[in-house]
Amino acid sequence: MNPKPQNVLDYHSVNTIFMVWNFKEDVAVKEVFQRICALVINLNHSAYTRFPDEGVSCVMGIGFDAWNRLALPDPLPRELESFVPVSGQKHTAVATRGDLHFHLRGNTSSICYDMAADLSELLQPAALCVEEVHGFRYWDGRAIIGFVDGTENPHGADERAYFGLVGDEDPAYRGGSYLFVQKYLHDLVAFKALPVSEQERIIGRYKDSDVEMPDDVKPKNSHSALANVGDDLKIIRGNMPFGNMAANEMGTYFIAYASTFSTVKKMLDRMFIGDPEGNYDRLLDFSTAKTGTLFFAPTLDMLKAFSG
Ligand code: HEM
Repeated sequence: MNPKPQNVLDYHSVNTIFMVWNFKEDVAVKEVFQRICALVINLNHSAYTRFPDEGVSCVMGIGFDAWNRLALPDPLPRELESFVPVSGQKHTAVATRGDLHFHLRGNTSSICYDMAADLSELLQPAALCVEEVHGFRYWDGRAIIGFVDGTENPHGADERAYFGLVGDEDPAYRGGSYLFVQKYLHDLVAFKALPVSEQERIIGRYKDSDVEMPDDVKPKNSHSALANVGDDLKIIRGNMPFGNMAANEMGTYFIAYASTFSTVKKMLDRMFIGDPEGNYDRLLDFSTAKTGTLFFAPTLDMLKAFSG
């Protein structure tokens, strides 16, 4: 039987909670981790039964340091490492610590909240929650900057599995997925001050219609020109916008699942360093990466084995 992936290939739901947890020093973490693995499986099974049509899922990713501290299987997934910052002349994709990442999706905020609360209750004695972002579907799937986000994602079960899941190149981890996240804050005041035609030149698509600009019109430093690394190299993006007026933090939680991290890295290099060098992604003049962490989302079968 094929290994059963976590729900990494699901489409966006209406609500999402993203959480990053870091283990405390000098505490035993193995038993808590075992119980968390069992809980993640339980939350997904329960969701299929209770809310089959509500897009509910809970995906857990494990970072490189945590993998080693927990003495999980060695050799590790081939490309699992601590993310190394990508620095261009002007902008940097920073690297931040993350032991466990949770991606909680559901059409109602109640179920996302309940899943987050159940996980937190178990984790609190052994770990600290260092990041929590509540993402929501903004109109017809738009980023908070007003452009539809996700259009050029792979579509259909086969294509999504091909680009989203590890294959036979790393048999021990077949069905797993590299999970990369970045929390971006946008300078919305500056972005909105631009005429819409200029905003469109930054993304490389028309704002209302979501139609892609023809190649001879699309600027070489637009986001879609630089992030597109070819039809044979794609990733599954599940970005969600968030907004907090009191903190004046409006942003995009970028989240990608991929069969290989090298594809994500290629996109980051082109966006931050530029292609050719210096021709960096103009979207970065209005967006700052505050976090950046690589995780691995093992299959449900592996989580079951980890649960002891
Ligand atoms: C395309 C938004 C960061 C990879 C797009 C599009 C939007 C968008 C609006 C056009 C519609 C679509 O195809 O989805 C954003 C925002 C970001 C962000 C607001 C955060 C500031 C990133 C990062 C990567 C990335 C960090 C990769 C590491 C892509 C790819 C495409 C895309 C591969 C499709 C390009 C194509 O084939 O035309 N993004 N994005 N994006 N983005 Fe991003």
